[in-house]
Amino acid sequence: MTEGLNRRKFLHTAGVGAGACLVLGTSAFAAGARSMNPGGFDPGTTPLKTIAARKGLLYGTESTYGELQDAAYADLVSSQCGLLVPGLALKWDALRPTPETYDFSKGDWMLNFTRQRDMKYRGHALVWFAALPKWFNGYATPQNAKQLLLAHINTVVLHYAGKMQSWDVINEALEPNDKRPDGLRNSPWLQLLGPDYIEMAFRAASEADPHAILVWNENFIEEDTAAGIAKRAFFVQHLKRLLGKGVPIHAIGIQSHLIGGNPNIAGPQFQQFIDQVSDMGLKILITELDVKDFKLPNDITARDTAIAGIYTQYLNTVLARKAVVAVLSWGMSDKYTWIEKAYPRPDGAPVRPLAFDANMNPSRTWYALAKAFDSAPSR
Ligand code: G3I
Repeated sequence: MTEGLNRRKFLHTAGVGAGACLVLGTSAFAAGARSMNPGGFDPGTTPLKTIAARKGLLYGTESTYGELQDAAYADLVSSQCGLLVPGLALKWDALRPTPETYDFSKGDWMLNFTRQRDMKYRGHALVWFAALPKWFNGYATPQNAKQLLLAHINTVVLHYAGKMQSWDVINEALEPNDKRPDGLRNSPWLQLLGPDYIEMAFRAASEADPHAILVWNENFIEEDTAAGIAKRAFFVQHLKRLLGKGVPIHAIGIQSHLIGGNPNIAGPQFQQFIDQVSDMGLKILITELDVKDFKLPNDITARDTAIAGIYTQYLNTVLARKAVVAVLSWGMSDKYTWIEKAYPRPDGAPVRPLAFDANMNPSRTWYALAKAFDSAPSR
């Protein structure tokens, strides 16, 4: 464990919920249910957060202020999840109406939601190339950018100090396709401040909240493809360099927006990467888990079975490593998934990436998550 993580004890409720209920029955439905539910789990009495907590794992989800106005969905989120991460409310475009002002209203509403429902809270994201406010490009200059970045981090992290389980300090800073020798994304922050913006951000966040776990969150690093291999190599390079300088990075986030039908998910080189990161003393969070199904069959049973299989294979692989301490879904119901708009199916059928379908019934994915958490070694 890094010194930082000892200081930032990884706290979560070790839920000891009701025992798993055995699904009994001889009808075809019961048999069908059993095939969907080999572990005999019951979403109503044994929520995912409880199954995960039994193994020392934290399970949570992303959601938004708007989605949580749907009372049924709000209850589903808090009943199944031990942590909430705002998908929008803590990004620059939501927090910063002007260069001089902050709007914490939705971020605070969601913090209160977690406190009323015994959930942990996670911040996303302090530094990202996207979701920047409209005024940003016309306002930020190489002369004011450091002050702009540090004032933002200091103000926002201080505002939530002591209440955040973790922060995505840096989000998606790597992009080998930008052809830099260091593999960094040619983002506005890089153009304004150079590569040191990453160190600046972590040091400022650590100063403002010595208790939050500080995370570098990345996407498209889950596959053993040339792109995934290259991105992970740059990631390891930067982590080693920064940790060697004592930069307070405590964990990495592997977003895990998995692409159903892709052949190289969580292959041997990905597994080596996880072991390398773990050997650096870092923890690993699976931060934005879902499965894009645009390549998968139209038939619901075939598609759901394929999706559940991808979740099973991926989670069994990552959870075999005890450095993986949290699994966060990017949404709990297909009713609100970002994938519907961002990765629609060519046949126009509604997508089915999450643990609950659009009618908020548990899908095969729910049972795959439950089984993977239940089969995981204890942390
Ligand atoms: O709510 C407004 C709506 O009123 C308006 O009519 C509509 C059209 O402009 O926009 C709506 O806001 C959109 C918001 O999602 C809610 O749907 C924003 O434009 C849109 O930019 C925003 O996209 C989010 C995106 O991050 C950018 O913040 C996605 O929902 C969210 O899922 C996505 O999440 C990212 C993570 O932060 C980082 N990792 C990748 C992940 C997926 O892209």
